[in-house]
Amino acid sequence: MPETVSDQKTLYVVVCAAGPASDVGTLVDLAQGQGWSVQIMATPSAMSFIDVEDLEKRTGRPVRSQHRTPGDQRSPKADAIIIAPATFNTINKLANGIADNYALDVVNEAIGLGVTTVILPFVNSAYANRTPFKANVELLRTEGVDILIGPGFFEPHTPGAGKKTTERYPWLLTLSRTKPKT
Ligand SMILES: Cc1cc2nc3c(=O)[nH]c(=O)nc-3n(C[C@H](O)[C@H](O)[C@H](O)COP(=O)(O)O)c2cc1C
Repeated sequence: MPETVSDQKTLYVVVCAAGPASDVGTLVDLAQGQGWSVQIMATPSAMSFIDVEDLEKRTGRPVRSQHRTPGDQRSPKADAIIIAPATFNTINKLANGIADNYALDVVNEAIGLGVTTVILPFVNSAYANRTPFKANVELLRTEGVDILIGPGFFEPHTPGAGKKTTERYPWLLTLSRTKPKT
């Protein structure tokens, strides 16, 4: 464990609007157990999936989904980023440099800066089999983004079966891939 709070590395956890979002506290606890200070970023759509008050209590930091207004505290810089659960929508937008919400804005810039970025999708097989999605996964990989999809990682479920699979969503896997680049 770090000796002081200032020794702690900051992990941004970016939450999108998919089923497992309501359990993102699991990832917060696991990350804190590994010594990370966690900053939650949520897409605007994800705000209704999560318990903002609970997450703010756990992290000691405001959940961010909007750009700051003057006078608001800055978030510490990210040493690494995990996007989980990552939606079809956000993955496609990120791959194409679209930054139409705060979380996407932050991650687009972080990838450009070379910050370690890990994506754990939660998409069904109908979405995952779309040609644009498959191409966008590869596009992100060419930029060094670690997308955990496929055998041994997140395996897309059949449409309509998502609820049954949320319990085995592999939150922990993301942390084993999240080493800050030095
Ligand atoms: C109850 C509910 C569950 C959803 N589950 C998923 C999902 O598992 N994966 C996904 O990619 N989109 C899912 N969606 C659709 C996304 O929420 C939608 O595309 C949204 O625009 C995504 O916004 P975001 O990527 O900015 O978070 C779900 C929507 C609802 C209402």
